[in-house]
Amino acid sequence: MRPARLMKVFVTRRIPPEGRAALAQAADCEVEQWDSDEPIPDEELERGIAGADGLLCLLSDRVDKRLLDAAGANLKVISTLSVGVDHLALDEIKKRGIRVGYTPDVLTDTTAELAVSLLLTTCRRLPEAIAEVKNGGWTTWKPLWMCGYGLTQSTVGIIGLGRIGQAVARRLKPFGVQRFLYTGRQPRPREAEEFQAEFVSVSQLATESDFIVVACSLTPATKELCNKDFFQKMKKTAVFVNISRGDVVNQDDLYQALAGGHIAAAGLDVTTPEPLPTNHPLLTLKNCVILPHIGSATYRTRNIMSLLAANNLLAGLRGEPMPKELKL
Ligand code: NDP
Ligand code: DGY
Repeated sequence: MRPARLMKVFVTRRIPPEGRAALAQAADCEVEQWDSDEPIPDEELERGIAGADGLLCLLSDRVDKRLLDAAGANLKVISTLSVGVDHLALDEIKKRGIRVGYTPDVLTDTTAELAVSLLLTTCRRLPEAIAEVKNGGWTTWKPLWMCGYGLTQSTVGIIGLGRIGQAVARRLKPFGVQRFLYTGRQPRPREAEEFQAEFVSVSQLATESDFIVVACSLTPATKELCNKDFFQKMKKTAVFVNISRGDVVNQDDLYQALAGGHIAAAGLDVTTPEPLPTNHPLLTLKNCVILPHIGSATYRTRNIMSLLAANNLLAGLRGEPMPKELKL
């Protein structure tokens, strides 16, 4: 039997096939999608969301009061194709009784793999080395040329020993890391035990680490946590990696620290804004490696994320438990 009214679902981007198929098979939903790989213009988003029961969005869609007003009272579920939820105005969403689905766990390993790749790429100066091969800078084997920093016997500091932070530590441990430090809102002794990681202040982590990996969520408390004061405390030989969100870092301060030789190098998978303008000063630095937010970008993981996001949305619309619901 067909339901009296089809539930209206709006999807803000072309999504991977498994999620698309799950939505297409939902007989109780009428699905409209912004059928492009490029971001939806604001006016199209406001038009598409008007009267919708469910929204499937990306981390690049800002879901704020204005958009929620444009959606109207029907909106019951927001499902984001991300584990990060900093693009959602959660207080406003909670006030309206809207449920939120997100995609934790399924992207943890893929993102940790990228974080480790970025760390190694940065500390062993791979982009510079590859460029030297191509531009003729490789003239002979030189003892002091293209040297970087290695993980053996190092101290690694992780900001945010959550799912991804732990997966990063697990992957780095076999490289011979001597000591793990971590920071967060409170100690996590159960999670830390596997790495004998020590809970320390942000300041101690900055001072004592040879490698710093930022893996926390972006919140008002973590916004620009890595600023001038933080970079000044870091060792001159230390390498900084951020895979969380660009806003955790004050980029002007990072630029000064890198350009002035106060820290050795930085690897960023996330920036502010995204995309980073091609004339941004950070892109002029040899000791800064920047990737275009590809932490979870494997075909498999993005497909699983899209299926999870679709299933979260459908379960929420049907009043059922969501596979991964964010507790508001
Ligand atoms: P978790 O919720 O498992 O971990 C979040 C971590 O943030 C926790 O360890 C938490 O520690 C820490 N945290 C929260 N507040 C603070 C604070 N004030 N100071 C220091 N640490 C804090 O999330 P995930 O590990 O699954 O994901 C983490 C983030 O990574 C996401 O929110 C997203 O922004 C980003 N991400 C980026 C990807 C990419 O493509 N580059 C891919 C996937 C995720 P505690 O609770 O102990 O305070
Ligand atoms: C997330 O999920 O928050 C990432 O930034 C993209 O996968």
